[in-house]
Amino acid sequence: MFFRKKEIKWFLLFSSEEKAEENLPLNKAVLIEVDNIQLCIVRHEEGYFVTNNKCPHQGLPLNRGGFCENGKMICPFHRYEWDIKTGRETRKQENNMEVYPIKVDKNGISIGIEKKSGGFFSL
Ligand code: FES
Repeated sequence: MFFRKKEIKWFLLFSSEEKAEENLPLNKAVLIEVDNIQLCIVRHEEGYFVTNNKCPHQGLPLNRGGFCENGKMICPFHRYEWDIKTGRETRKQENNMEVYPIKVDKNGISIGIEKKSGGFFSL
């Protein structure tokens, strides 16, 4: 049985939490570009949420008014909602969101993006 090897490459977004707070208004979706991918980041009460900037419903940009509320990412266009921990659409009406890992450490705040060129391994 073959599985795709999952390798994560980390990209530093902010050198400190203070820098993140300066640039990310609480609970509002902000567009960032990392490794040629347009992403949406939201700073919320419990940390950070990052997903693709294109809404899974109709591909509209989440940074045009998207926000987090009560543990959910809400698209401003048709108000579909996704759980910010799992990326699951809460009413099972639409595709789930990809949730990117975030690391907060002494270097700052980094996002993990899966390397596309990873090899395969078998058990
Ligand atoms: S485009 Fe986001 S809910 Fe429709």
